[in-house]
Amino acid sequence: MKIDELRRVCVVGAGLMGRQIALNAAHRGFAVRLWDASAEQLRAAERWTDEYIAGRIEKGRWTKDEAAAAQARLGFAADLAEAAADADLAIEAVVEDIAVKRKVFAELDRLCPARAILATNSSTFVSSLVADATKRPTQVANLHYFNPAMVMEVVEVVQGPHTSAETASLLVEFAQRVGKRPILMKKEIEGFIANRLLRALGREATFLVDEGYASFEEVDLAAEKALGHPLGPFRLMDLTGIDLAFTIRSAIYEASGREEDRPPRCIEERYRAGHYGRKTGRGFYRY
Ligand SMILES: NC(=O)c1ccc[n+]([C@@H]2O[C@H](COP(=O)([O-])OP(=O)(O)OC[C@H]3O[C@@H](n4cnc5c(N)ncnc54)[C@H](O)[C@@H]3O)[C@@H](O)[C@H]2O)c1
Repeated sequence: MKIDELRRVCVVGAGLMGRQIALNAAHRGFAVRLWDASAEQLRAAERWTDEYIAGRIEKGRWTKDEAAAAQARLGFAADLAEAAADADLAIEAVVEDIAVKRKVFAELDRLCPARAILATNSSTFVSSLVADATKRPTQVANLHYFNPAMVMEVVEVVQGPHTSAETASLLVEFAQRVGKRPILMKKEIEGFIANRLLRALGREATFLVDEGYASFEEVDLAAEKALGHPLGPFRLMDLTGIDLAFTIRSAIYEASGREEDRPPRCIEERYRAGHYGRKTGRGFYRY
């Protein structure tokens, strides 16, 4: 397949990420079908899309014609078969559960045309973990967007040992066509680049606080003013959710059993107290 032949995109999972990935591709000229296992989530995605587009017009960012064209190109499918039929590229953005993702990949393999590329937007899982659920591993790779996907400039394309060079370069070209700067990884590793860097920073930051070297405010100040990060690691965790931070670290610890992977005390205490960050009005900081 040449990039000019890649016209139809199927997006599976209409949550926070899937709905934005779908609208971004529709806005940039692709015919998109979005589907979710939850009818309620799909309806919520449709309402979100209408509101987002209205907001773009109101702020003068999109012309009315541009908005109408994007809306016309984005369809909400009744089932996966409808979403997958004729797709040249399927992007999976369902819950971060490998068993669920494997089932979705097996279904996509059955329902998508033989030419279609199957990509996962997983934040952590490498595509090797889903490629063998399909009969087309050379056409499987990671295509990792960042939140908010309508706005963020980069996507990570990760080539697994099973992924063909043609698939990787088509995904790179697709990313460019949807207005993103692709970052290509030619060898896969869980977490990819940006999230691994963030994790390394988080590990050091929580170590310094747990061991009493500095307060979280001081660590944030160093990250923000000495390193120029827009948000220090603790302010960022309050934004993305301490519950999420704790859940991810607990899963890593359970899988490895290594003491150095145990969730940091400063995160666990706040998690146990129900202080999840901005969403509960209190995390490291008060809101
Ligand atoms: N949230 C982020 O900041 C972010 C950033 C990059 C990548 N990701 C990745 O994107 C994926 C989705 O994350 P999200 O934040 O959008 O989650 P979300 O919970 O908002 O959405 C997940 C959606 O998947 C649907 N779903 C569950 N099982 C399904 C199935 N079998 N078939 C179809 N749909 C199904 C759910 O109904 C839900 O709407 C995850 O793999 C996550 O790691 C998330």
